[in-house]
Amino acid sequence: MTDTTFTPRVFSGIKPSGGLTLGNYLGAIKRFVGMQGQMETIYCVVDMHAITVWQDPKELANMTREVAAGYLAAGLDPSQSILFNQSQVAAHAELGWVFNCVARVGWMNRMTQFKDKAGSNAEKVSLGLYAYPSLMAADILLYHATHVPVGEDQKQHVELTRDIAAKFNHDYKTDFFPMTTPVIEGPAMRIMNLRDGTKKMSKSGESDMERINMTDDADKIAKKFKKAKTDPEPLPETVEGLADRPEARNLVEIYAALDDTTPEAVIAQYPGAGWGTFKPALADLAVAKLAPISEEMARLMDDPAEIDRILAAGSDKARAIAEPILKKTYDIVGLLRSS
Ligand code: AMP
Ligand code: TRP
Repeated sequence: MTDTTFTPRVFSGIKPSGGLTLGNYLGAIKRFVGMQGQMETIYCVVDMHAITVWQDPKELANMTREVAAGYLAAGLDPSQSILFNQSQVAAHAELGWVFNCVARVGWMNRMTQFKDKAGSNAEKVSLGLYAYPSLMAADILLYHATHVPVGEDQKQHVELTRDIAAKFNHDYKTDFFPMTTPVIEGPAMRIMNLRDGTKKMSKSGESDMERINMTDDADKIAKKFKKAKTDPEPLPETVEGLADRPEARNLVEIYAALDDTTPEAVIAQYPGAGWGTFKPALADLAVAKLAPISEEMARLMDDPAEIDRILAAGSDKARAIAEPILKKTYDIVGLLRSS
């Protein structure tokens, strides 16, 4: 349910912790672009989240620029959306601390992403990785954002954001923070690995063949789809036939998301098609949609100073919204300030 007492405002972010993938593009960036112009939109490169796991300092700034270049190349327009990187707006860390004191340890212990990332190594990971969801709640609530477009894997974190807002409002007897809605819709909410349809496509998988990177050129994109794992059966006649076929379903969903259509429509276009027909068609579609974006990213990355200027201007605009909300939060909590 959407909170109607707050002005509709979108916030979302991506970590600069490796190259952008097709999962980031279809599950996040393409949808960010689609929401632009419909309501106020704020998009962040969450570099403070990235350092919850080790990042080489020589690469982090460039990775931050590359995510920004991905946003811009895909169609985000700095005159319509606020684009910035998190660490330039100190209020994120400041509100994150307040939320560390609202969120409960038991809530953090239920976060599946932490459990997956920490694995059997939970004693050795950073404290930041554990507290990550309360910084994410701060990112969102610092702007009183009402809508957060994310992929399926982030749903639990947005629900935790609602829990933090509700507990803050309850404890301090206020209605200051909104109940944010996660926006998770369309065929691309969980793009899977091209070599194993039961695993999510991610920036950090071992083999480059399991993901499409937003910077891959036409040849690489085509090769990766042609080599993608499938089962031996042809495509079914109806979508129900994809139920127990994770790899086939993934390729159909990717096609649908790239072509702005539904899996039903894709199956209706290719009923019973063999992989020898479908994979080259998918590769052609992906190249047509992605190659212009990767070319534009490369062009933007040739002028890093221009990206830095865009992020600096976006940070100023973000601060103008965030700082009054942080100050009001401090007042509610009773933290003394002299101005
Ligand atoms: P991250 O790369 O973890 O910072 O994720 C940034 C955004 O991309 C989040 O909204 C994720 O849910 C989304 N995302 C990442 N990987 C995928 C995927 N394989 N399928 C769908 N969405 C994804
Ligand atoms: N946790 C998100 C991810 O891993 C990234 C993120 C950080 C984010 N802060 C956010 C997403 C705020 C949406 C809103 O994908």
